[in-house]
Amino acid sequence: MRIVVLGLGYLGATHAACMAELGHEVLGVEVEQSKREMLAAGEVPFYEPGLPELLSKHIQSGRMSVTGSYQDAADFGDVFFIAVGTPQKKGEYGADLRYVDAALEELVPLLTRDALILGKSTVPVGTSRRLSERADELAKDIDVEIAWNPEFLREGYAVRDTLTPDRLVLGVFPSGNAESVAREIYATALGNGTPLVVTDPPSAELVKTSANAFLATKISFINAMAEVCDAAGADVKAVADAIGYDARIGRKFLNAGLGFGGGCLPKDIRAFMARAGELGAAEALTFLREVDNVNMRRRTRMVELTREICGGSLLGARIAVLGAAFKPESDDVRDSPALNVAGQIQLQGASVTVYDPKAIENSRQLFPTLDYATTALEACEQADAVLVLTEWDEFIKLDPMHVRNVVRRNRIIDGRMCLRGEEWVAAGWDYRT
Ligand code: UDX
Repeated sequence: MRIVVLGLGYLGATHAACMAELGHEVLGVEVEQSKREMLAAGEVPFYEPGLPELLSKHIQSGRMSVTGSYQDAADFGDVFFIAVGTPQKKGEYGADLRYVDAALEELVPLLTRDALILGKSTVPVGTSRRLSERADELAKDIDVEIAWNPEFLREGYAVRDTLTPDRLVLGVFPSGNAESVAREIYATALGNGTPLVVTDPPSAELVKTSANAFLATKISFINAMAEVCDAAGADVKAVADAIGYDARIGRKFLNAGLGFGGGCLPKDIRAFMARAGELGAAEALTFLREVDNVNMRRRTRMVELTREICGGSLLGARIAVLGAAFKPESDDVRDSPALNVAGQIQLQGASVTVYDPKAIENSRQLFPTLDYATTALEACEQADAVLVLTEWDEFIKLDPMHVRNVVRRNRIIDGRMCLRGEEWVAAGWDYRT
C-alpha cells in the first residue's frame, strides 16, 4: 500500500518508519526544512530508542522517503495519515487545530483520485465530522473518506507500541470502506491477535482523550494520596504497592512523585475539559481540573521541600538538578516538571545546574538562563542540595559515596522515589522524597 504520513514529529516519524517496516511504501511530509533534511538523510531529530535504526534502514532501502510538497503527497498516496501536532492554544485550555486544518486544506484540493484520510493526531471529539464535511467541499469530483485511528504510543517505547500495540481503534462513518483498508495496513498486528475496535468517529476520538484522562487521573490520585501520607507520616509507596495488587486497580501509573508532564497528558486533559464545556457537559469533567491542580501542586511542593532542606531560603544556594526530560528515555522537555521546578528555584535566588543524559540541548533552548553540566557529578559539584527530578537509570545507579565527595552538603531529594533511599541514608545523606 502507498501510505503518506503528514507531519513527521514524534508521532509521525515513528508511524512512517513503522509503516515501512510493515512492508508499505511510505512518503512522509514535513514542512520544517531542517527536520526534513535530517529525516531524508535517515537521521531522527529527537531521541527515541530504536527509531534511528528503523528509519535509516527504510530510507536506504527506498521504502520510505520524505518531502515538503503536498503535490508529491497527493500524487503518491492511497492512504493519508494525519499526524501533525495539536498543541494547547496560547492562554486557553482548548486544542489548537490549525495544523490539522492546514493539512486537510492543502492536501484535498490536490487529490485526483479517491482517497482515505486516517486521523492519528489527538483531537477534540467532533473533529472528524467537521473535517469530513470540509473534505467534501474541497474534493474535486472524487470521494475523500475520513476515519479516525487514534495512536496510543508512549515516548521511549514508540516503535514497540506502534508495531505491537495493545489495541487498534478505528472510527468510521457509515458507508465508508476504511475498515477493510485499515485491516490491510495493520494485517501483521491483527494476525498476531491485536484486538481491533471498530466504532464511529466520535467514539474513536473519545477513546484517546478518555484514555489519557484516565492515566492522568491515576497519577494524580496517587499523588493526592502522597499528600495525605506526608501529612500522616505514612508511606505512599507501600500504599501504592498494596492497592496495586488488586487486579482491578493495578500497580502501573501509581508512581507518586513530581507528577506528569510532556506533550500529551497535560494539554489533553485541558483540551478535553474545554471541549466538554463547548458540548454543554463541563460538569462531567470538573474532576479533571482537580487532577491538573494536584499535578501542579507537586511542582510547588518540590520547590518548598528544596527550600526547607536548604534551611528556609534558596537565596545564594547551589542546587543540582538531575533530569530535565519529562520522563526517562526521552529528550522531550515540553511541559517538563523537572525544568519547571528548576526555573522556580532559580527565580527564588538559587543558582541551578541541570544535567540530563539526552535533553540538555532542548532544555537550553527553553531555559537559556539555567546552567548546564555534561555529567551528573559535574552538576553536583559544590551543591547545597541535589534534586533527582527524572528517573533516568543513570541516576538510580549513582554511587552515594562518589556524589558525597563532590557536593558541599549531602542533602538529596528524590522527586521520583526512584533511588534506593536506604543506601543514601547509610552513606550519610539527608535523604527526602
Ligand atoms: C502518554 C500516554 O501514556 C500515551 O498512551 C499517549 O499516546 C501519549 O501520552 P507519554 O506522554 O509518552 O504517553 O508518557 P507516559 O509514559 O504516559 O508518562 C506521562 C507522564 O506521567 C510522565 O511525566 C511521567 O513521568 C508521569 N508518570 C507516569 C508519573 O508521574 N507516574 C506514573 O506512575 C506514571
